[in-house]
Amino acid sequence: MTSKSDWLSFPDAPHIVVPPPGPRSRELLAEQARLETDAIGYPHYFPIAPKVAQGATIEDVDGNRFIDWVAGISVLNLGHRHPRLVAALEAQSHEIWHALELPTEARIRFLRELEGVLPGGLRGHARIFFTVTGGDAVETAVNLADFAQGKQGTVAFSGAYHGVHGGVVNLTSGRRYHSTSYFGTGKVIRVPYPDPYRPVLGADKGAAGTIAYLEHLVNDPSSGVDAISSVLVEPILGEGGYVVPPDDFLPSLREFCDRHHILLIADEVQSGLGRTGRMWAVEHSKVTPDILCIAKTVGGGIPLSVVAYRSDLVKELPRGFHLGTYRANPLALAVGAETVRVLKEGDLIDQTRSRGEQLLSRFRSLADRHPSIGDVRGKGFMIGVEFVHNRTSRLPWGDRGKAMRAALLGRGVLMHTAGAWDQVLRFMAPLIIEDELLDRGLAAFEDSLESLDATPERTATTSPQVPHRAEPAPHLHPPPEHAIPSPVMPERPGRNLEEKDAS
Ligand SMILES: Cc1ncc(COP(=O)(O)O)c(C=O)c1O
Repeated sequence: MTSKSDWLSFPDAPHIVVPPPGPRSRELLAEQARLETDAIGYPHYFPIAPKVAQGATIEDVDGNRFIDWVAGISVLNLGHRHPRLVAALEAQSHEIWHALELPTEARIRFLRELEGVLPGGLRGHARIFFTVTGGDAVETAVNLADFAQGKQGTVAFSGAYHGVHGGVVNLTSGRRYHSTSYFGTGKVIRVPYPDPYRPVLGADKGAAGTIAYLEHLVNDPSSGVDAISSVLVEPILGEGGYVVPPDDFLPSLREFCDRHHILLIADEVQSGLGRTGRMWAVEHSKVTPDILCIAKTVGGGIPLSVVAYRSDLVKELPRGFHLGTYRANPLALAVGAETVRVLKEGDLIDQTRSRGEQLLSRFRSLADRHPSIGDVRGKGFMIGVEFVHNRTSRLPWGDRGKAMRAALLGRGVLMHTAGAWDQVLRFMAPLIIEDELLDRGLAAFEDSLESLDATPERTATTSPQVPHRAEPAPHLHPPPEHAIPSPVMPERPGRNLEEKDAS
């Protein structure tokens, strides 16, 4: 993709000078473990202490250089310290750092840039709500939908991850805050996500089963559902395992929502801003949501999130409908505006689409040689490689996922898991990654697979220096039928134990 002269990454990565964690990393990890809560997860998954990062690479304090296929969980679509973002940050740092909701130039520049790239019917017809995190954006979006609809009831899907906000407003005392936040009494209607690999409602045959179920919820007075205000959907499941739904899913969901005057909220926190080879994942199916949640890459690595909503959705929102001191930080806005500009100017997103297709077939050809890989799916640089105990049962192999993560780390490649059992290795490199680093990462992936195949029951290794709690052994039962997966799946570990966290 690039000539050596314009590499953004450390060109010699992966380069392991001492098996990670090296001595200095161990010191910092131990100090972190002493001082910080033990509720944090990432030091267990990637026991290294980063020092400096460039493009798609990270160097740790021991001088090890890693290829970064995690990208801060899709925060760094433009990689670490992209020169144009560094320049934008530096310029803004000489102006103003905090300005509440006042219209700084950075703020207006950001709004204009974002307006120019919104999907379909939202472009030119949207208003923007600033928030700080992904969860914050989703919470605001759902509140907005409930306010606009004058009723509550959100369809959310199995496997969904939308953050862990919600609820704190109940501790705030003002009635006016309670009157626009519905989380205290919020109603969630859980519907199976159409997962073609693990179909629950016939997702292997398209979206019809899911839509029929939704129709039943609306039409049958005894369905148990009183009202539906909105449907909240990830166009591709993120934390749930990089599950790509059938092509007709989003268009059918759009039609369903239109038929019943239900609002469609797309959570593009992880899939947005070029990640899937389009600016927005919804653009693959030409669907425009009524409300779009944007976070992660939109701040280029500085906390910033946004809700874009159809301007005709509500006539007027009460002042202070949603609040937060740090919304729309000028430093984040300056970097965010430049991020959007970089993404829309060049052909990076088109390249991500075509390079993603090549990568999919390269991962699939690995699957041809390694039966522990049950499925490979994805779009752009959002690719999931799912490990199973065997292809007939499709029983998820979480230990293999975790062992792969550890084996890759030892080879200088950072790659995270996803899925309820950590059974999916997810490829989410920065979009700017050089081709050579893809080749080297794939070689490390195959090498790791081969070494694990040679010792099949090896489980994930964790640094002995990093205190960790034992993971309960998964209960593996003989699987009757992959189409009815719930009774045969290993039990998901409790949140406080080993569940990976999302960022
Ligand atoms: C799809 C999706 N929505 C929301 C969130 C929550 O974002 P945050 O961690 O910034 O609250 C995440 C985080 O991974 C996500 O993947």
